[in-house]
Amino acid sequence: MSGVFEMSASILQAMPVLGSAIAGLVLLTILLSLYSSFRRHRIGLRLLQQQVETARETALRLRTEWERSRALTELSWSGFRKFKIDRKVYEDGTGNICSFYLAPHDGKSLPPFKPGQFLTFQLNIPDLGATQRKPTIRCYSLSDSYKPEYYRVTIKKIPPPPDKPDLPPGKGSNFFHSQIGEGDILDVKAPTGDFFLDTTKHTPVVLIGGGVGITPVLSMLNTIVESGSQRETWFFLGIRNRAEHIMQEHLARIAREYENVHINVCYSNPGAQELLGKDYQHAERVSADLFKRVLPSNNYQFYICGPPPMMASLVEGLREWGVPEDDIKFEAFGPASVKKVAQPPATALTAPSGVETTVTFGRSGKTAIWNPTASSLLDFAEANGVVVDSGCRVGNCQTCLTAIKEGDVSYIHEPNPKPQSGTCLVCISVPKGNVVLDV
Ligand SMILES: Cc1cc2nc3c(=O)[nH]c(=O)nc-3n(C[C@H](O)[C@H](O)[C@H](O)COP(=O)(O)OP(=O)(O)OC[C@H]3O[C@@H](n4cnc5c(N)ncnc54)[C@H](O)[C@@H]3O)c2cc1C
Ligand code: FES
Repeated sequence: MSGVFEMSASILQAMPVLGSAIAGLVLLTILLSLYSSFRRHRIGLRLLQQQVETARETALRLRTEWERSRALTELSWSGFRKFKIDRKVYEDGTGNICSFYLAPHDGKSLPPFKPGQFLTFQLNIPDLGATQRKPTIRCYSLSDSYKPEYYRVTIKKIPPPPDKPDLPPGKGSNFFHSQIGEGDILDVKAPTGDFFLDTTKHTPVVLIGGGVGITPVLSMLNTIVESGSQRETWFFLGIRNRAEHIMQEHLARIAREYENVHINVCYSNPGAQELLGKDYQHAERVSADLFKRVLPSNNYQFYICGPPPMMASLVEGLREWGVPEDDIKFEAFGPASVKKVAQPPATALTAPSGVETTVTFGRSGKTAIWNPTASSLLDFAEANGVVVDSGCRVGNCQTCLTAIKEGDVSYIHEPNPKPQSGTCLVCISVPKGNVVLDV
């Protein structure tokens, strides 16, 4: 920098006429040089600050993950654990949806879970008669954020199908509603499931629940707000009207108190007394068209749980809107209605090309040609009218354990624990060539 000053001084002595112009030029050069060095310095500082911030976030995430996995190892359990019903709370205007607060019978702390995961229950339903000696297995999503003292599930009472009113109503849900009360003890497996919110990320999310499908996404929502996260969150609930409005007060309070959360309740059939803008925000079903009108862009992670037709149309609509497959996450409470884009593993068809793989359901006396787009042998059995007992449909509860009489299967994901050889969990397996199952 001093060289520049010396040079400008000697130029000024030699050429007095052009002095002021040259002096201005030199001054400008000096200022530019100073400014560019200052900018470089500032950019460097900003980069450094960003790196420190990223390192801090990574350290925090690693620490949270480490603490979570330590708590899981210390507090989790295998098999069934006894829980006492601490509280029963009705959550809608029809009395058809009820929350059950479950406290561990041993009084010890509960392991954390990922919001979106579920519990598996083993129910000994007394009045099923001698024909059903096996306990009934049912899965219910955790509907609240993690609390060390209790877990909460929220259950809808299932009536007979509308076109077959003479059939018995849903076994598990009606047992919970009519026979389980405060103080009763239930056998419960530890939380599990692959449909969960990654709480270490801050990506904007859209959480969508249809009817009682609100439960896993409500757990996600509660976790976001209670952690103080500023994550941009859109929440859509699809129901018919106020009678079905689950947790109305709770959702209204979140809408009032958290600026980063946008609650959108959709009534498909609102009553005359129900107020648009107060009770509900949209007089229509939840749909991809609604998202296009309400969301600023399609750049979100979508989490969906609801009745099969709603899930199928939403997933399809989001794909058409250009949302990447990885950003659409969904869970079905019953038979899967949404076709995955990914095909089953190549091992599903080991037969030479052109030769079809057959699946025989021994006891039902049915043989069908395997459809490689079926998501599992369980879905395939149901599509062919073969009834197989199932619970979680994700390889956790063992309810669908079936003997293999001939052939073999491969797993879509590894079961844990692995079933004994000669048996398989049909909900997560596909045939490895021709197979005969004992159902
Ligand atoms: C991962 C996961 C999470 C879940 N989370 C929740 C949750 O948070 N909340 C919730 O409420 N549910 C949830 N479910 C659904 C729940 O597990 C049960 O499937 C649901 O409660 C119905 O079980 P049920 O025993 O009452 O009905 P089922 O006994 O399985 O009966 C289902 C229907 O079949 C009818 N039926 C009875 N007999 C026949 C027959 N012979 N032929 C044809 N139909 C017949 C019944 O009338 C009823 O309508 C979840 C499911 C999964 C897999
Ligand atoms: S249905 Fe639960 S393991 Fe298959």
